[in-house]
Amino acid sequence: MKILGIETSCDETAVAVVEDGKKLLSNIVASSMDLHTKYGGVVPEIAARSHIEAINPAIEQALTEANCAWDDIDGIAVTYGAGLGGSLLVGVLAARTLAIIHKKPLYACNHVEGHVYANFITEIGANSKLQKTNYKMPAQAPEFPLLALIVSGGHTQLVLFNDHFDYEILGRTHDDAIGEAFDKVAKILGLPYPGGPSVSKKALDGNPHAFDFPKARVPGKYDFSFSGPKTAVLRAAQAAIGKDYTFPSFKLAERLSEPQKADIAASFQRVAIETVVDKTVKAFEEFQPKSVVIAGGVAASPELRRQLTERIPIAVQYPDLKLCTDNGAMIATLGCYKMQKDQPTADPLTLDITPNLSM
Ligand code: KG4
Ligand code: ZN
Repeated sequence: MKILGIETSCDETAVAVVEDGKKLLSNIVASSMDLHTKYGGVVPEIAARSHIEAINPAIEQALTEANCAWDDIDGIAVTYGAGLGGSLLVGVLAARTLAIIHKKPLYACNHVEGHVYANFITEIGANSKLQKTNYKMPAQAPEFPLLALIVSGGHTQLVLFNDHFDYEILGRTHDDAIGEAFDKVAKILGLPYPGGPSVSKKALDGNPHAFDFPKARVPGKYDFSFSGPKTAVLRAAQAAIGKDYTFPSFKLAERLSEPQKADIAASFQRVAIETVVDKTVKAFEEFQPKSVVIAGGVAASPELRRQLTERIPIAVQYPDLKLCTDNGAMIATLGCYKMQKDQPTADPLTLDITPNLSM
């Protein structure tokens, strides 16, 4: 069973072909990130326009690299939410059109759920060009019950899957997502977008205990909050240069020394990562799942992988770095399971986007 997956929820135009929910045949990611860097974040209009230019070539390339003709494809999976409206629309319209023309079943996928499915990709197709790239895949698919820590630029949640399509949300963020907090801290420190990787890099030169940023306390046992820690960073940066809360945040970067920036980056990263790790450990102890997976862009964080691996007694699974951030392969994989488990198909004439979709 081969599924073509299309993902355009943010700034990546991503298309991939996955076989049997585990074998990666192609994985095309055309990012418009460079166009957003100078604005310090994704500009929705620019992202949408870039998708329009990139979508058809990406689809063609994904099929070519997978050695597939349309006859070989059994279904199309597409992200219909959550994400930026204009961006989602491009992928959904492409998928609807292709489903009609090529008479393929269409599967509407939730972006956040998709991130978890990147963990089910364990092989590279024998004839795939990807054999030459070094993907580090998990040895086997995760087992149920499965505890998933989903950490991205838009979401932070802990989900317990009893089986495919049978899950319970244990907790989620009350305000900012963890990736968003990394991005905002990067902005305060004058580090380039996306903030996660640049804060991670800067943190290597800093002392993670230089600042004692508080961990947010939230009522839900497995809920999160990241707006407090982010404000704590702002106040610490102002204090570090001898100013008070009235000093404008956009002028901080030029006044902070490189060692000060590194200490703030390292201390923020420690606290942000500890916050999600503490709750994941607590959920692991309560529910005793057979596997623990990390999903979403922040799953690329070496510090998260290190802390979680250290504190969870079973092997923690995470996707290859290239499959942590947005990609079509995770959506194709979710589509494969939808087909395999007889989940409902979407109507290609009417499928609409749902920008604020939640799991
Ligand atoms: O999943 P993703 O590509 O897009 C969303 O669905 O949001 O996640 C992007 C997020 C960004 O906030 C980025 O800063 C963060 O993932 N990220 C990281 C790292 N790499 C990417 N955060 C922390 N450490 C990293 N190494
Ligand atoms: Zn994502």
